[in-house]
Amino acid sequence: MTLNLGFLASHGGSNMQAIIESCKQGMLTAIPRAVISNNSKSLALEKAKNQGIATFHVSGKTHLGDGAVDRAIVDIFKNNNVDTVILAGYMKIVSKIILDEFKGRVLNIHPALLPDFGGEGMFGLKVHEAVLKAGEKESGCTVHLVDEIYDNGRILGQSRVPVFPVDDVDSLSARVLVQEHILYSKILKEICEGRIVL
Ligand code: GRF
Repeated sequence: MTLNLGFLASHGGSNMQAIIESCKQGMLTAIPRAVISNNSKSLALEKAKNQGIATFHVSGKTHLGDGAVDRAIVDIFKNNNVDTVILAGYMKIVSKIILDEFKGRVLNIHPALLPDFGGEGMFGLKVHEAVLKAGEKESGCTVHLVDEIYDNGRILGQSRVPVFPVDDVDSLSARVLVQEHILYSKILKEICEGRIVL
């Protein structure tokens, strides 16, 4: 099955880029169709644009009113034939407007082993801070489906990394990010090959 990917990203877009590379290398039968960011200056938009992928800036500044942002996102993805939505460091809540349109086909990656260290307020470096504070010996990342509750949807796959006594937030987040880049493409490949059914 060929996936038509639509990305939502707010910052660096390194997960987005890793997936685009997997598409280019033929590891994935997937086509990156569009990249949307709420941040007009995001590296994610710049990277996608430089590779000839359609890019869009959609935010509360460009689209005013309740639900306007998510309705615009749905329109853009539909117009670009997207069938699977990839959250890649998207810092906004995805509402029912998007979830209803792409039922069971919105994926996210979280930089910890869900259901631990997830939920509202658990994002970015805060996740790694919490893992270190809890004295965990292991962390990792999780690819999961998105539903209306933070970090709650069906888990599609996880990768584990050790946590060392000398770790700080930077060293741990870097170790996890390497695995994120591998895991996201691996899960998408399993979806393409029908080994994971959405
Ligand atoms: C990643 O750590 C991901 O787990 C989280 O946001 C970060 C995005 O990084 N959801 P990048 O923009 O893909 O580099």
